[in-house]
Amino acid sequence: MKGGSLQLLSLHKSYGDVPAVRGIDLNIAAGEFFSLLGPSGCGKTTTLRMIAGFETPTSGEIRIDGDDVSRIPANDRPVNTVFQNYALFPFMTVEDNVAFGLRYQKVGKADGKRKVAESLDMVRMGQYAKRRPGQLSGGQQQRVALARAIVLGPRVLLLDEPLGALDAKLRKTLQVELKSLQESLGITFVYVTHDQEEALTMSDRMAVMAGGQVEQVGTPAEVYESPSTAYVADFLGSANVLTVEIINSDSAGQTTFRLGADTLSCRGGGIDGTDARLVIRPERLLLEPPPEDAGTLEGTVVRTVYQGPTTDVIVRLSSGDELVVRRPSERVGQHSTGEQVTVHCRADAMRLLPPGALAD
Ligand SMILES: Nc1ncnc2c1ncn2[C@@H]1O[C@H](COP(=O)(O)OP(=O)(O)OP(=O)(O)O)[C@@H](O)[C@H]1O
Ligand SMILES: [Mg+2]
Repeated sequence: MKGGSLQLLSLHKSYGDVPAVRGIDLNIAAGEFFSLLGPSGCGKTTTLRMIAGFETPTSGEIRIDGDDVSRIPANDRPVNTVFQNYALFPFMTVEDNVAFGLRYQKVGKADGKRKVAESLDMVRMGQYAKRRPGQLSGGQQQRVALARAIVLGPRVLLLDEPLGALDAKLRKTLQVELKSLQESLGITFVYVTHDQEEALTMSDRMAVMAGGQVEQVGTPAEVYESPSTAYVADFLGSANVLTVEIINSDSAGQTTFRLGADTLSCRGGGIDGTDARLVIRPERLLLEPPPEDAGTLEGTVVRTVYQGPTTDVIVRLSSGDELVVRRPSERVGQHSTGEQVTVHCRADAMRLLPPGALAD
């Protein structure tokens, strides 16, 4: 099996006069693990259903390996889909469920049997071939659904929140399995999720979506470290996103700004206007001075939130904003509620973005 490349060109979909997808352009390479990440209602499923052929685009084009497939029926596209709710037939055995995936292909009986067995082995479900879905765990059922989707040898596999119904530990296990399955098959995966951690850990590249559009496309590190909008920064992980007052933005790309009673500066010039969004990752903030130069913010600890390996120290600044400082749990003991602290921010830990909408 080999992955196909996928191109979406100005893809639009409206239901009546309600726009669900408002002009998506994406170039997904053959063999890529590509995620669509975004909040509920942003158009992820609609986009996937158009690629699959279950919905007709209002306008725009879908190309697989360069061919426009927009008007080709779903069954004839080199694409298959795995849904969140497995959609297995309860009265069929596991192997019959997988064989059902071959119904539209002219495959001889022996050949079909071999393909079904191969697919089940690939998802490590060979020994369950004679069981019915009701006799399997959720994770096992989802593996069967995967086998049914790959038995046809699609060039592009679409996955719509395939792990959404599973508990946290099983999700982790299946994330690793899915990723290695994708690598060994070489199929292009388009993976829909609203779980940012899942998208960050599994994808080669990802698109962050909002309101039927793509906000940013990049590798997980690019999108996480260099969000291009305040929305992306806010949606991806627990960034501190604060409104600051610009004092001076010079042509050398250095900007000085005020946050409450504190004045800081960082790289990132070209901010027009008097205010901007400051993005700081909680794990980049320090409560003791680093060896290099760093800006400082004075504040009061309002609470600490234990999260296992890390603890969030919530600090109220003179501006009234609350800042999350994430620390290794073993080092938090010395900070207690009401304590005055100095938060140290290195210039490279801060990022200034134009003011804009935030994630819900
Ligand atoms: N068949 C439909 N008729 C009318 N509106 C629809 C239909 N399908 C989806 N929508 C609307 O289109 C928008 C996008 O829906 P979509 O299902 O693509 O979101 P999503 O990103 O997959 O969300 P979730 O994370 O909740 O699954 C929503 O506002 C939704 O209400
Ligand atoms: Mg959806």
